[in-house]
Amino acid sequence: MKTALPGINFQVFENYEDLSVAAASFMYQAVAEKPNLLFCAASGSSPKRAYDLWADQLKLEKATHQIRLIALDEWEGIGIDNPFSSGYQINNQLIKPLLLQNYFLFNGLYANAIEEIQRAEQFLSQQGTIDLCVLGIGTNGHLGFNEPGDFLSPLPHKSRLTVESQAHPMINGAAFQPKYGITLGLRDILLSKKILLLVNGTHKKDIMAQWLKQELNTQLPASLLWLHPNLTCFCDKEAAPVDLFNNG
Ligand code: GLP
Repeated sequence: MKTALPGINFQVFENYEDLSVAAASFMYQAVAEKPNLLFCAASGSSPKRAYDLWADQLKLEKATHQIRLIALDEWEGIGIDNPFSSGYQINNQLIKPLLLQNYFLFNGLYANAIEEIQRAEQFLSQQGTIDLCVLGIGTNGHLGFNEPGDFLSPLPHKSRLTVESQAHPMINGAAFQPKYGITLGLRDILLSKKILLLVNGTHKKDIMAQWLKQELNTQLPASLLWLHPNLTCFCDKEAAPVDLFNNG
């Protein structure tokens, strides 16, 4: 179901599986257009199924090693060998199956946050503009670890996690409970040529209703996505406030 919302390609899907199939196809098309695209990958549950579908299709049909990848964020204190990390998910779902050679993952076990931030900045300055950035939204409106607050940061930075982020299911059961994260900033995200935001589940319904008001607000970092000229959002019915949509 397409909607009449201006400034965005917004589509509502029957369920998470349908959303994921559409997201995989969107990502596949981006590789077809540019085989060496620079792909920015969020972790978490929103893109999880789409990544598997995308990787399976790409492996069968394309030479994938040219795809370049940068991770969106990472939990401080959790290394990429740890199944609770973002890096672990991205490594296992994308980097290994697609045989990627040119990629950047934050090392959550960094000794020095400034050096880790510089590594991310250096990768971005060497690789150029992100072609496609795939995002999820936090239940508190965060993007990566750009957390709600009085101000937002444009560039890669270390961020103090909100209570909501500290309770994220991704780290439920981890031996170490992070208080900080490291993330690309809003400018890094907004400079992407295309952005695909994936939103599913009843737990996202409240934040989606707020986001869809199109009010820019640092207390809802994802609201800054409304500034982007090439924004697509795929949402499932559970997360979508039905009153906003027309059939089309
Ligand atoms: C997490 C991750 C982000 C993710 C977001 C939403 O904190 N650090 O990369 O996009 O929050 O997660 P999920 O898709 O699991 O709801």
